[in-house]
Amino acid sequence: MKKDDLNAKLELSKEDMKQYGYTIIDHIVAHFETQDTKKPVAIATREEMDSLLTESIPNQPTPANEVLEFVMEQVIPQSTIVSHPKSYSFVPGPSNYISAMADTIATGFNIFSGGWAASPGAAELEILTMNWLLDIFGFGTKLGGGIFTSGGSMANLTALVTARRIKCGDDFSKAVIYLSDQAHSSNIKAIKVIGFKKSQIRIIPTDLEFKISLNKLKNAIAKDRLQGLEPFCMIASAGTTNTGTVDPLDEIAKICKDENLWFHIDGAYGGAAILANNGKEILKGIEKADSLTVDPHKWFFQPYEMGCLLVKNHNWLSGTFSEKPEYLRDVEGNESEINFYDHGIQLTRRFRALKFYMSLKTFGLDSFKKAIQYNIELAEQTEDILRKSPKWEIISPATLAVINYRYHPIDQKLSEKEIDIINQKISEKIINSGEALLVTTVLLGQVVLRMCLINPRTTIQHIKETITQCEVFGDEILSQKSDI
Ligand SMILES: Cc1ncc(COP(=O)(O)O)c(C=O)c1O
Repeated sequence: MKKDDLNAKLELSKEDMKQYGYTIIDHIVAHFETQDTKKPVAIATREEMDSLLTESIPNQPTPANEVLEFVMEQVIPQSTIVSHPKSYSFVPGPSNYISAMADTIATGFNIFSGGWAASPGAAELEILTMNWLLDIFGFGTKLGGGIFTSGGSMANLTALVTARRIKCGDDFSKAVIYLSDQAHSSNIKAIKVIGFKKSQIRIIPTDLEFKISLNKLKNAIAKDRLQGLEPFCMIASAGTTNTGTVDPLDEIAKICKDENLWFHIDGAYGGAAILANNGKEILKGIEKADSLTVDPHKWFFQPYEMGCLLVKNHNWLSGTFSEKPEYLRDVEGNESEINFYDHGIQLTRRFRALKFYMSLKTFGLDSFKKAIQYNIELAEQTEDILRKSPKWEIISPATLAVINYRYHPIDQKLSEKEIDIINQKISEKIINSGEALLVTTVLLGQVVLRMCLINPRTTIQHIKETITQCEVFGDEILSQKSDI
């Protein structure tokens, strides 16, 4: 290697680093400034992306700015803008600039957030921010604990591994787990990952408001016991993805206590509603869970990837995940110095707590509360607009900033099948226009349009524009009824 061969050390000169970094910051700031004026939807086929991006492995260097320019022009624009005010589908990712910069610091310094000895500052910030969350959710900081994960799926998985160890030990062949037909698919995935068979899973039906039926849950538990099986865990939803519905947490807590079941709550998206004006009422009973998933990268406005699992007793996590390999013996520390690699699955972990800490400190919790309250009221205003229109029918009212509705003009005689087709086509047309990301879901067998309004920059004007656009498409499809 030549002495000054920067490439072979993967280095840039100081000036080049600065210029490169400033250019990137300019791009990010421009994105934050202009994203609302862009179209949120990115659509491309595999063939199109292959033709744009396929190349052989680059053995020789390319100038840094050239690579950057290519990425900014050809790669980044080919992504849905999940923080766009008209990005209504799935669970949007509103994010914020402070956290984006915090993530840049965490990556720039490549902080290892696995063990205390490597980064006491990172570990302490994770303990601190975890304590804030434990407080917010009434879990108590004395015994309570938790871990930041890559997202809600990993938090649910971490919870279920813990629940299985504590309730079943090594033999879980007769264990049975319960969740509603509206629970998020990541829970089923996690149940499969931890080795449960289909026959050990009970999907409990929901009522007309999409809440789990307590009667059916109790029946299922009783039946399983009569058959010599061992009910061990109940997963409730605090904000289902489809409709925002919160299961009756308080009543479920009682059933879990009476039946000695682990009580896990998936509040990945809806848990943040605890910060709304009547959050404690909406989520009554959330504090009674053994474990709770909340996703800061959803309604706590953090960029990806940041999920969180809270537990009532931090020893449950360390008891489940601690391994003591000889190569970590010198960095164990004392009991109070938490090694987060002992609280979850990952050993090497990025410094996720930093963005949560910096954004909460910078904006203040009150700003988060106002944003969440605003979103809830925005969904209610949307419901009001739709209810007053002769063209729309509400299928599930505004609940934790989610609303489901369908185009169904009162003066038209349409079959259920025709209404389904029209709404599917409305969604396709609006997505193809690129103006809004508005996909459908199915509720009670009906195809409906679903809005998840957790972006504090979405205004009622954005929503009115989208509804009007959908109405025009709906009328157009109706007028060409032969297509239906
Ligand atoms: C209720 C619920 N649980 C879990 C998840 C999975 O979270 P993630 O996508 O962060 O893994 C989601 C995602 O939308 C969700 O809405």
